[in-house]
Amino acid sequence: MVRKLSPEEQPWCIDKETGEPIINKGVQNVCIDKSTICYIDGYHSKLFYRGYSIEDLAKYSNFEETTFLLLNGYLPTKNELEDFKTKIINEREIPDKVIDLLKMIPRDIEPMEMLRTAVSYLGNLDPERHDISRDGFYNKAIRLIAKMPTIVAYFYRIINDKELVHPNDGMNHAENFLYMFLGRDLEEIEKDAIDTAFVLYAEHEMNASAFTTVVIASTAADYYSSIVGGIGALRGPLHGYANVEAMRQFNEIGSVDNVEKWFKEYILTKKKRLMGFGHRVYRSYDPRAKIFRQYAEKLAKMRGGKILEIFKIANKLEEVALSSPLAEKGIYTNTDYWSAIVYGALGVPTDFFCTLFAISRVVGWTAHILEYTENNRIIRPRLFYVGEVEKEYIPIDKRT
Ligand code: ACO
Repeated sequence: MVRKLSPEEQPWCIDKETGEPIINKGVQNVCIDKSTICYIDGYHSKLFYRGYSIEDLAKYSNFEETTFLLLNGYLPTKNELEDFKTKIINEREIPDKVIDLLKMIPRDIEPMEMLRTAVSYLGNLDPERHDISRDGFYNKAIRLIAKMPTIVAYFYRIINDKELVHPNDGMNHAENFLYMFLGRDLEEIEKDAIDTAFVLYAEHEMNASAFTTVVIASTAADYYSSIVGGIGALRGPLHGYANVEAMRQFNEIGSVDNVEKWFKEYILTKKKRLMGFGHRVYRSYDPRAKIFRQYAEKLAKMRGGKILEIFKIANKLEEVALSSPLAEKGIYTNTDYWSAIVYGALGVPTDFFCTLFAISRVVGWTAHILEYTENNRIIRPRLFYVGEVEKEYIPIDKRT
């Protein structure tokens, strides 16, 4: 006899005191494990990687050292850092078969979708693909961290009919990426900006993409499957693609004079989301956005022209948003707002912004997979079932 379930039949979902189902849509404030990787104080604009403030890491560290820190839990000695850098440098080139694949991928694809495909194929070719030991995992991670920038840079050059620029062993990770991408040497400010951007994006606790990688890893699946899943989650505009959408939004507004009208019409009246604003954890200004803003201003003023106009639009829009009902609800500027201007000023086309995010965040994903699976338990939540049960199966020719 068709019927609905009574709450007693799903006791794991029911609050004993109220008798109501406990549903946490979006798993807000659910802690899935203990961790020593990252701490966010969302009310006071604070972020720490392994206990070190993001401001100190942005100022004094670099991508390679921060990567070592995140993966190993401590700051390296000189020798450890040199050894680590050499390992990364030696793994930068990608197999010819991956280059052939990049040439076959449709040119009009969103670059994150290319990255998902290329990383998956790279996993098929990894020399340690059958090694599921922790050492094998670590070696694969170094290889992937080293190769992701090359994949992105080569794809950009292929679809723009430009000669490939091969990795330069004399350059650090972030500089080498932009050098391969743009095909020219960088100015000091550009080197500093791209390296800082990579540090700022390297890790951010149990966000949607990190969770995706950990869910996949918790099934004891391989490293590449986890990372491909993370790339998929990052590609959404509510998460990593927000930097792409933020730049598209600045362009759509078109001029400083149009900011207030646009904000009123689209954000306040039509309830569109302001891209690069809002965060599940921050109820204050994202500390990374503060650092990105400084680089955005410096680079935009240095470049002038269109990107300076975009900076002015973003500046005005932020001013309007921060004195609107959004700020009263705790919706502030997030990291993707100003990173969009930094990437744009560095000469990266808008649709590639999120790939730069992924190149850095692969480090955080890896750290979380390592930490969670050290003492693994499969991640398997429940749903509160509100449908019917015990329905009669009706053969197809009797259905109306
Ligand atoms: N613009 C307008 N309104 C917003 C925004 C925004 N950017 N963010 C949240 N709100 C509103 C929602 O409409 C909702 O309003 P309601 O209570 O009237 O329904 C309320 O604030 C709460 O929003 P939620 O979606 O429940 O907040 P949640 O924590 O689930 O979402 C998210 C966080 C997805 C980041 C959201 O703020 C958003 O969509 N921002 C825009 C996209 C963006 O910039 N994403 C990047 C985040 S940082 C990162 O991932 C790297």
